[in-house]
Amino acid sequence: MKPIETNALTKKFGYYTAVDKISVSVEKGEIFGFLGANGAGKTTAIRMLCGLLVPSGGSGTVAGFDIMRQSDKIRSRIGYMSQKFSLYSDIDVIDNLKLYGSIYGLHGYLLNNRIKEMSGFLEMGSLLQRKTGDLPWGWQQRLSLACANLHKPQILFLDEPTGSVDPVSRRIFWDFIIELASGGTTIFITTHHMDEAEYCHRISIMVNGRIADVDTPFALKKKTGSDSLQDAFIKIVEPQN
Ligand SMILES: Nc1ncnc2c1ncn2[C@@H]1O[C@H](COP(=O)(O)OP(=O)(O)OP(=O)(O)O)[C@@H](O)[C@H]1O
Ligand SMILES: [Mg+2]
Repeated sequence: MKPIETNALTKKFGYYTAVDKISVSVEKGEIFGFLGANGAGKTTAIRMLCGLLVPSGGSGTVAGFDIMRQSDKIRSRIGYMSQKFSLYSDIDVIDNLKLYGSIYGLHGYLLNNRIKEMSGFLEMGSLLQRKTGDLPWGWQQRLSLACANLHKPQILFLDEPTGSVDPVSRRIFWDFIIELASGGTTIFITTHHMDEAEYCHRISIMVNGRIADVDTPFALKKKTGSDSLQDAFIKIVEPQN
């Protein structure tokens, strides 16, 4: 059983097809980069995989469960960091962590232990008593990642987690993601930063709702005759736009 598998997964909004028959298969412990230009359909696809949006066609499984019929089973096994900040800005960092932990059934010693672990990994131990909305953006995003990972999900969906995040926070973020993946967590991540895409085991490139190519960063550069992933991305995306 693959952690994520889709077959011709499709989403239409009226007559507009935002996600057009995408088929992906992601391995356990893989860091899968889900790339594409603005409006390509990445967030729409992720929301279907997380059971938050009903597909118009095709099929898919996440953690072995059907995205159409078993989204409740999927939700407890995944972590999802949405593209829009979704924590409470007017409460302290620690209270967001406690709230998220309790939503996932963590309480008492177990919850406190996980909060300690997460804040250690993400170097935010000194921020726990600060008001969430007052933190610099990079720290808010680290907090979102910590919340998404408190219940030790098998699969993490990260939708542009490092947009407008400074280099130090991005490094801490990626060190953590790489560590999680090497421990067997599957990472499905979108980014517009090509230096980050280099850390992915494989990348898919989405154009107008379709997956134009899926391969390793090395193979994508090689087959497009590019020195950089940025070049490869442009060569794959431009002719189809
Ligand atoms: N609820 C909706 N109703 C109508 N159209 C929508 C809806 N949600 C998304 N779309 C459209 O679907 C297309 C894909 O949007 P989506 O947000 O999935 O793109 P994206 O690849 O995540 O882009 P970005 O990189 O900017 O986040 C866009 O044209 C968007 O306007
Ligand atoms: Mg998006």
